[in-house]
Amino acid sequence: MKTILLVAGTRPNFMKLAPLHEALTKRKESYRPIVVHTGQHYDDRMSDVFFRQLGLPEPDINLGVGSGTHGHQTGKVMIAVEEVMLDLKPDMVVVFGDVNSTLAAAIAAAKLEIPVAHVEAGLRSNDWSMPEEINRIVADRVSTLHFTTCEDANLNLVREGVFEDSIHFVGNIMIDSLSKFLPMAEKMTVAEDMNLSDYILVTMHRPGNVDDREHLRKIIEILSGLAELAPVVFPIHPRTRKNILEFELSIGGDSVLGNKNLHLVEPLGYLEFLKLEKNASVVVTDSGGVQEETTFLGVPCLTVRPNTERPVTITNGTNTLVGLDPDRVIELAGEYLNGRSAGSDRPVLWDGSTAPRILDAMDKFFSIDYAETEESGNMTEMKQR
Ligand code: UD1
Ligand code: UDP
Repeated sequence: MKTILLVAGTRPNFMKLAPLHEALTKRKESYRPIVVHTGQHYDDRMSDVFFRQLGLPEPDINLGVGSGTHGHQTGKVMIAVEEVMLDLKPDMVVVFGDVNSTLAAAIAAAKLEIPVAHVEAGLRSNDWSMPEEINRIVADRVSTLHFTTCEDANLNLVREGVFEDSIHFVGNIMIDSLSKFLPMAEKMTVAEDMNLSDYILVTMHRPGNVDDREHLRKIIEILSGLAELAPVVFPIHPRTRKNILEFELSIGGDSVLGNKNLHLVEPLGYLEFLKLEKNASVVVTDSGGVQEETTFLGVPCLTVRPNTERPVTITNGTNTLVGLDPDRVIELAGEYLNGRSAGSDRPVLWDGSTAPRILDAMDKFFSIDYAETEESGNMTEMKQR
């Protein structure tokens, strides 16, 4: 029996964890998955709602680290997660994506000589001003298994000297969740409830866009310009909300944000967000995951960033990089509202079956062999070498 620690801490981690947790749970004769929530995100709308909607059990352990500076937050996760690892002695630690919790758990495990599996390895923006870029590179450096979503990630890892044997091109596990939950999301009535059709969906939370007053002012200029074109739904990330208040740019009642076409809402549940995303005329974002989901859904996406670690969403998908340029964002959004096509060609292996491929690689790593029984033809007999 292999004990697998699945460590997650933030909103975009949970939809990556859920399919793997489900796959491991189905193989209970071989695996004991334990979910560790670091508590990096803690609001109901940033955390608990995903456990409920994704059908995940309550986390087995919640480290409750909360918010803080990078050093503070990463350090707190390392201290707390190391204790859990010393106590449970897992056979593997799985980390997801590129957040501080990912980095902290990867380092803690590697120093205890516990194999680390990184889901979504190899993505690179080549922009070291992004905290996520540092997290990705360090997590990959100390990982034993690298599960990648696209060919460019494989090449990035090889270029950095990662052993090819450790790289497993398995596809995009977020798409496993999206495919599974889309039928449920279709039943949500969030757009109807707001009386919306032909609307624009916006999300913004990257420090490069919202931690600087002048940049955040430009984001508000974009929102204001978009709202002249069509109704805009803007679920506000807590970082962005905090900064709007701190910089006294103010939400609602303000001459810029008071526009009645601008629907400022709390962060949405996964199902509500997916439904809005699928039916949006265009999505304007700086999110990593949203670039990928819009590509899968065939919805035009304008990414307000100078670069992306997910270039496959541009070459094979619906994504366009626009930078922090209000005129260009508004012009392109207008074109999509007028019917311009974004064209879409789903990236290879974004097919909803990534979790089983990860499990196959884990079976191989642990030399678990599910031999087919001659009589039943079922994959039931398990031999462990
Ligand atoms: C984090 C990740 C980022 C990811 C994003 C997903 C890092 C370095 N950043 O950014 O890569 O894209 O999550 O959403 O790991 N806050 C709340 N409630 C919460 C969580 C946060 O109010 O539940 C507020 C706090 O004021 C906090 C701020 O948001 O200081 C930022 O939270 P933090 O987790 O540090 O970074 P994110 O911007 O959420
Ligand atoms: N998401 C959500 N509600 C929202 C905004 C986003 O459920 O109000 C989902 C979205 O569908 C995607 C994930 O959150 O699956 C992306 O997370 P986020 O943008 O916070 O982080 P990033 O991907 O940029 O790290």
